[in-house]
Amino acid sequence: MDLSLVAKYDRPIPRYTSYPPVPFWTGAPSPSLWAQGLAEHYDPLRGVDLYLHIPFCQELCSYCGCHRVITKNLARQDAYVEALSKEWTSKIQNAFNGQPPRINSIHFGGGTPNFLTPENFEKLLNHLTQGGKSAHFIGAVEVDPRTIKEEHLTTFKKLGLSRISLGIQDFDDRVQTEIKRIQPYPLIEALFKTLRSLNFESINFDLIYGLPAQTEATIEDTFAKVLTLGPDHIAFYSYAHLPTKLKNQLLIKENLLPRGVDKFKLFLRARSLVKASSYVDIGMDHFARPGSPLSKAFLERRLQRSFMGYTVQKSNILIGLGASSISASPVAYVQNEKDVKLYESLCLQGNLPHTTGHILSPQDKEAETLIQDLMCHGDVRLSESQKSDIQNHLKEDLQEFIKDDLLHFSDDQMILTEKGRPFMRNIAALFDHHLRARQGAATGPRFSQSI
Ligand SMILES: C[S@@+](CC[C@H](N)C(=O)[O-])C[C@H]1O[C@@H](n2cnc3c(N)ncnc32)[C@H](O)[C@@H]1O
Ligand code: SF4
Repeated sequence: MDLSLVAKYDRPIPRYTSYPPVPFWTGAPSPSLWAQGLAEHYDPLRGVDLYLHIPFCQELCSYCGCHRVITKNLARQDAYVEALSKEWTSKIQNAFNGQPPRINSIHFGGGTPNFLTPENFEKLLNHLTQGGKSAHFIGAVEVDPRTIKEEHLTTFKKLGLSRISLGIQDFDDRVQTEIKRIQPYPLIEALFKTLRSLNFESINFDLIYGLPAQTEATIEDTFAKVLTLGPDHIAFYSYAHLPTKLKNQLLIKENLLPRGVDKFKLFLRARSLVKASSYVDIGMDHFARPGSPLSKAFLERRLQRSFMGYTVQKSNILIGLGASSISASPVAYVQNEKDVKLYESLCLQGNLPHTTGHILSPQDKEAETLIQDLMCHGDVRLSESQKSDIQNHLKEDLQEFIKDDLLHFSDDQMILTEKGRPFMRNIAALFDHHLRARQGAATGPRFSQSI
């Protein structure tokens, strides 16, 4: 790998879990337009995807970039679960004429979903799936290994929440101290064995590179442990350090952060180790074991991307429930109120808790398809007008990518090279007309570095 490319391409770029990215949204649709969009596009055979945001965590991790509230008061969950149930009831009334829709998938994210008791999970699941589950229903939960209880796991199995994601981040003691998240390897090893013995369908590990005190040696040691356990999926995120926006990150010691080439080498080292253990590089920051749900979807060109990352089976409607959650339909995006207390009071009064959003233009939808194809399959097919648009406006950028061997371009097809895969975000930005329109502007949204 030519490491001079890191300095050339390491710049702030969206992660493209949606298009347009949230900072480029122009305003929420009216409640009636939003509901009409759902009613028109709902297909009972495809069902709807649900995302539930559980914002509570008992302790603060200093690197955290998620939307969360730190509290040890477990009783706070009751009002929140009540609000989630009310929000679902309002959405059924508004968008589905009182007829609960069929559910294709449910994803619990956080914060820490296992802040909720097993009883509350059961109560919520029963309420959410009144309209039935699709035949290939997928249930997924993000889990904090430090606080998960065995009763949670047996309840998850019973409820069909069979895909588990563990927040690992790093196994090195020093790194764990620096990020204020202590979870010794034996704890993870024991949890992993329990999950395997309960036959969960897939286990994902979240890890991060670019954390304070990480070196190539600590990464090698962390990945030796990861590969000994052998999760089905590995998400290896680039640490997004935005301390002016995320005040908790002021606790991170800047002088210990690996940056630029040093940070990129951590990614390359881990990537070579996981690939040597036959994991498939399925897309941005994600690796999957052969035979796992994501690697099969990748090989069969079924892989898709949503706000929650890579997925195998996405409906055209995503309904987000909970503070800060995002909903998506072919018509528009909406985001819920982020403040937990305000969110709860809006739901308890029977109001939709939407605050912001974006009505999708035809140009947005075209760009969304191109970015999805690039990030999920590593190639895109361009129409004549898309080709001439790129050649007219972005000839120089395109030529640089081709010269650096990141991209092959022939006729109407663009194909990422092996060398180009880590620079996927930069190449996706070719299709981002909102980013292009803001280039050169003195102020604007802040994105994390692409490397
Ligand atoms: C939305 S969080 C929720 C998971 C759960 N709360 C936990 O930490 O175990 C999902 C993942 O985002 C990643 N993450 C959090 N903050 C990040 C940051 N600043 N930069 C990159 N990844 C981050 C972590 O890997 C984390 O496991
Ligand atoms: S990283 Fe996860 S557990 Fe830690 S504060 Fe953020 S959301 Fe909570």
